[in-house]
Amino acid sequence: MKLKTFIERMSAYDLQRDKPEIISDLRRLATNRTLLSEHLYTTIQRDGFSTRNSLYSAYAFVLHYNELFTVRLGFWSPVTSQDENETFIYNLNHTHDFELYAVGYSGDGYTTVTRRILDDAPLRVGTRPALGEKRLLKLSPGEVLHMLPLQEIHKQLPPQTMSASLSLLIHPQRSVKNQEAWCFDENHVPTYPGIATQETALFENALSLLNDG
Ligand SMILES: [Fe+2]
Repeated sequence: MKLKTFIERMSAYDLQRDKPEIISDLRRLATNRTLLSEHLYTTIQRDGFSTRNSLYSAYAFVLHYNELFTVRLGFWSPVTSQDENETFIYNLNHTHDFELYAVGYSGDGYTTVTRRILDDAPLRVGTRPALGEKRLLKLSPGEVLHMLPLQEIHKQLPPQTMSASLSLLIHPQRSVKNQEAWCFDENHVPTYPGIATQETALFENALSLLNDG
């Protein structure tokens, strides 16, 4: 499926309800082998070799962004050092404030370890919420991961070989926007709010490195 078709179809769906349609379209989009080359061609035609408008990080490309959702192609490298672990935010328990669908695109795929928060109570630093069973999903090509916002504490484990995934991030609606994403320690105890801040910091960091170099 072409990216343009995917975007048109997503724009026609009720993104909170049409889960089977979204999963099936994402799988079809993942059979398109030229997403990255088309994206690079389009952005170079538009912006030259400036990375200012198009780069999310050195390993993630925003293929499309609008008010409701983002389509992102991300690369996941195997790691050998702690520094590399931090680049990809592997092994860090966290939640997101957005709903996420992801499909394996190439390589053996990273693994996500998830536990759902069962409490409705607001999270507090140092107090572990009640949690559901641990679930493991390896995002090999065609596999789909779906995570609701704020409810799923998860961490990513590196793949064996360089891998890529396609993800659809559904932006939070205004009504839930005042709730935050959190980070947790290895025992799922909340440590600090805001992984989004961290991801932004990584992005800024990657950009400044590129601009300097
Ligand atoms: Fe995550």
